[in-house]
Amino acid sequence: MDVTEAVKQRISTRAFRDTPIPESDIRAWLEAAQRAPSGGNLQPWRVIVLSGQARQEVIDLAATVLAQSPGGEPTDRPIYPDHITDAQNQRRFRVGEMMYEELGIPRDDKAGRRRWFARNFRFFDAPVAVFFILDERVGHGQWAHTGMFMQTLTLLAEERGWGTCLQECWGILRPSLKTHLGLAPEEMVYCGMALGHPDPEAPVNRLYTERAGLEEFADLRGF
Ligand SMILES: Cc1cc2nc3c(=O)[nH]c(=O)nc-3n(C[C@H](O)[C@H](O)[C@H](O)COP(=O)(O)O)c2cc1C
Repeated sequence: MDVTEAVKQRISTRAFRDTPIPESDIRAWLEAAQRAPSGGNLQPWRVIVLSGQARQEVIDLAATVLAQSPGGEPTDRPIYPDHITDAQNQRRFRVGEMMYEELGIPRDDKAGRRRWFARNFRFFDAPVAVFFILDERVGHGQWAHTGMFMQTLTLLAEERGWGTCLQECWGILRPSLKTHLGLAPEEMVYCGMALGHPDPEAPVNRLYTERAGLEEFADLRGF
């Protein structure tokens, strides 16, 4: 598989088979992604990868916390900023509608949509869970560089026939996860990732999202 193919075929996978991924494969995958660039070669990321009982314990934790606080725990780093543009808002709305259409959950079935969203907190039944950990003191550059590492992991997963779904939703459980995962005082969970073999039969995995055209995001000069 070449890189163009991997980029093109990668989607957010939201249904998985229960086939496990051996630890040695996970180690090789992480080592390969470690070639991702970062400003000053800081490599500001850290990951915690969970499988088996360790993964289940996080799912149980999420269920307990969300039963008490369905909206999650307070965070000063919300998933979306206060201000996003109209175009961004429309894209966000559109991807949601496309996904629920694949799933056959209409807009007025609020409970159905909430139930579906809750599957995030089971890693969509993926056998492996990854948490991306950042030092809270890093700047915006290091957050961006961590994103490069994350995307490198998703593409290397494609090459291996695995599926991924990055999951910022775990940010609503930051305080509980920090304690549960035994993070240092200055560390925080930025994002999660569900990882495993995609279920090709699942309708949700048919979702192939749209992108803005070149004219919307690129300004080419001097050619
Ligand atoms: C950093 C990051 C966090 C994300 N968090 C979530 C999430 O919590 N739950 C989810 O279902 N999808 C999540 N997504 C997936 C996006 O919705 C998805 O990437 C976007 O709609 C484009 O679709 P595609 O990944 O299939 O190309 C996340 C994506 C990124 C890059």
